[in-house]
Amino acid sequence: MKSPLKNKWVLITGASSGFGAAAAKAFGAHGAKLLLGARRVDRLEKVDISAKKAGATQAWFHELDVSQTASVEKFMAWAKGKMIGRRSRALNLHVLVNNAGGAHGLDPVATGRDADWETTFQTNVLGLLRVTRAALPLMPHDAGASIVNIGSIAGRSAYAGAAAYCAAKSGELAITRALRQELLGTGIRVSTIDPGLAETEFSNVRFKGDQKKADEVYAGMNPLTAADIAEIIVWVASRPPHVNIDELLVKPTDQAEMGKVYRRKK
Ligand SMILES: NC(=O)c1ccc[n+]([C@@H]2O[C@H](COP(=O)([O-])OP(=O)(O)OC[C@H]3O[C@@H](n4cnc5c(N)ncnc54)[C@H](OP(=O)(O)O)[C@@H]3O)[C@@H](O)[C@H]2O)c1
Repeated sequence: MKSPLKNKWVLITGASSGFGAAAAKAFGAHGAKLLLGARRVDRLEKVDISAKKAGATQAWFHELDVSQTASVEKFMAWAKGKMIGRRSRALNLHVLVNNAGGAHGLDPVATGRDADWETTFQTNVLGLLRVTRAALPLMPHDAGASIVNIGSIAGRSAYAGAAAYCAAKSGELAITRALRQELLGTGIRVSTIDPGLAETEFSNVRFKGDQKKADEVYAGMNPLTAADIAEIIVWVASRPPHVNIDELLVKPTDQAEMGKVYRRKK
């Protein structure tokens, strides 16, 4: 059976690692046409190759820093150029995956750093707003189009050391809900996928390259993988046009609540 994503344009932010890179492969396997963005272009190049190997009809990449309006606008102008090819004059971005983001530090508010808080909000909240604003003119009012935002369990349940990250992901949830109302009647669906513990580069980034600390986050338990979330993103975007998966909270079986994790002894 032909995938509803075959030959559809899919734009993924934060495609250089983790969920974004896995989503590129997963959409590629459905024969989609990919527009990939992140700051690490060398990594995007590798993702682009693996997405094409998986079956992407086309896969293109370009530098994108969602924390900078000028970078977002430049990226979207590039994306528009890719979509309006020799054979098509239509702007038809079918899926936007707002995935770029992450946490920075695990300090309590008392000792938190402005730079960490600002980066957290610039990427997870303002970046999502900027990218969506710039992408909407590229999305036809088309049954079946989707905006899939990546939130977090942290947006639903606060934990110590993550005040700014939890606030940012609560912000993502609020944006998702507001946008769904704004786009009512356009046919464009708006969803949030909110993962629990998933082993990607997330903790390495949070702990500023301290891999030992990052590994401790997943010690003795089975976390989600990037591929698990990628499969869900593709599933959400390929439901029939009248079905909107509003909000999905996805946790590993070993995680019952935010801080309640089952760990096996060695
Ligand atoms: N892993 C988890 O446990 C977990 C759980 C819930 C939610 N999440 C969320 O899932 C999303 C993806 O995270 P991940 O787990 O896949 O972590 P990851 O492996 O660290 O990937 C994060 C991606 O975001 C990109 N990014 C960060 N800042 C950016 C910026 N300013 N401009 C453009 N791209 C930027 C990174 O690319 P560059 O560095 O190359 O720019 C990278 O591709 C994030 O929004 C994160 O908050 C993760």
